[in-house]
Amino acid sequence: MSRVGYVNGVYRPHGEAVVHIEDRGFQFADGVYEVWSVMDGRLADFDGHMARLHRCLTELGIEIPMSAAALGVVLKETVRRNRVRDGLVYLQVTRGTASRDHAFPVDVAPTVVVTAKRLDPAKGRRAAGNGVAAITRPDIRWGRCDIKTVGLLPNVLAKQAARESGAYECLLVDELGLITEGSSTNAWIVDEHGKLRTRDTQANILRGVTRAAVLKLIEAEGLELEERAFSVEEAKRARELFVTAASAFVMPLISLDGARIGDGTPGPVATRLREVYLEQARREAI
Ligand SMILES: Cc1ncc(COP(=O)(O)O)c(C=O)c1O
Repeated sequence: MSRVGYVNGVYRPHGEAVVHIEDRGFQFADGVYEVWSVMDGRLADFDGHMARLHRCLTELGIEIPMSAAALGVVLKETVRRNRVRDGLVYLQVTRGTASRDHAFPVDVAPTVVVTAKRLDPAKGRRAAGNGVAAITRPDIRWGRCDIKTVGLLPNVLAKQAARESGAYECLLVDELGLITEGSSTNAWIVDEHGKLRTRDTQANILRGVTRAAVLKLIEAEGLELEERAFSVEEAKRARELFVTAASAFVMPLISLDGARIGDGTPGPVATRLREVYLEQARREAI
């Protein structure tokens, strides 16, 4: 029996049921999902799952794609077309398809995908009859900021907050009040004493390739540097604040949470580092 998937209003054979490569679910994990168990062809806990779906979509500012009743029809139709008596029906809703940018796109319809699969109820009964084993691991959800994962939803929300404040970037702050990195950049200051500082990569941050290149340029320029975290207050008092990334090169920040940095214009160190970075990157680009 061939399986069928629902994508944005159309039921298609499973292998042809596809979303766009720029879907934000694929690019940023910018979406939510729900799963209902199917019992004798009917959906269990329908209202509970629908209520959680609505709450999660609202929390993320994703448009509710259709009414609960209409979604119920699609879920049941997918179950019917896949001839599932006992199994699961999955619903994925993403913010939709848009040209890549962390911040929310405007005027984009959410993507809706529904799939259903059969399960053997006897297998579940056997497992429950015998009992099953468990193991433990540290709860790292999602604590591995050193991995350049597509699980970027927190970064998306931070960038959107920046956008809504008219800012370029949102710097992320840990529980000690220290800046970790930007939502898509590494963060740097030239402190009150003129010393460059950026958080060390033993910390839970992405090891920026631009950061590494800039570190070498700093050495070549004979500038003083310390790989040590700095607080929001230190950043506000700094002579200069800037971020680095492949998408930004070296970008001077002139204010933080409304506080002016230095004299409110790009500082000489960031300006020089941007210049030498661009020179070198252009020369060495393959
Ligand atoms: C969270 C985060 N930090 C830092 C960076 C900068 O890394 P790179 O210099 O390799 O572009 C990025 C780039 O995407 C990022 O997403």
